[in-house]
Amino acid sequence: MNETPLWASESFWKKTAIWVTAGSFIILVVLTFDSLSKTSAGSKRVPAYSVINKKIDYQFKEDLHKSIPVIGDTELIFGKVFTEEEAEQLVMLGKKTTQAKNCMNCHTLLGNGAYFAPDLTKAWLDKGWVSKEMREDLMVKFLMNPEKNARTFGSNRKMPNLNITEAEAKGVVAFLKWMSSIDTNGFPYNFKTINAEE
Ligand code: HEC
Repeated sequence: MNETPLWASESFWKKTAIWVTAGSFIILVVLTFDSLSKTSAGSKRVPAYSVINKKIDYQFKEDLHKSIPVIGDTELIFGKVFTEEEAEQLVMLGKKTTQAKNCMNCHTLLGNGAYFAPDLTKAWLDKGWVSKEMREDLMVKFLMNPEKNARTFGSNRKMPNLNITEAEAKGVVAFLKWMSSIDTNGFPYNFKTINAEE
């Protein structure tokens, strides 16, 4: 029995299995914390919630061959300066509303969801909101009654009324504004923003 080469012995493979499992587990834990630090608000690619007080743009950079978010000067929503805490509360209300109403069933947010309806990742910057003066109002009205305020983009698809309250709609608008400031590595590609006319 002593003739059995190391690679053919049962104990060798048992030990190997234990080491590989333990090693993978450690890598998984490290990667989890690494991802958390890169996806939490206030990190390099994901601005703090109070970014909703700022002008946000999404500009194509020739050298990078992609668009990146550009955070500018003050540009308030709902005529109010939000502290970091208040901004987080409002954005979270919007985020929870998108989860409760299952917007992902039709839309895509940050790469997750469906393509029945427009990608919402940069929806705050959509040219379809006519002008920056009208945008917030139009968005709130649309969210509260999408059938009456349908925009359809010639697709003939209508968003159903999801019984969103005014407070929830404002939260969603803040959530969409915050989301548009996230560096998504150029995704969605070739997106024409509402700022383009300036
Ligand atoms: C049953 C499918 C469906 C669901 C669920 C749905 N939508 Fe929509 N949504 C649509 C369709 C279709 C459109 C495009 C038609 C239109 O604009 O009138 C649209 C358009 C939009 C737009 C305008 C997009 C743009 O780029 O300007 C926003 C913003 C939006 N939806 C937000 C939401 C939010 C937030 C939720 C969840 C609370 C949601 N939708 C749930 C179907 C859906």
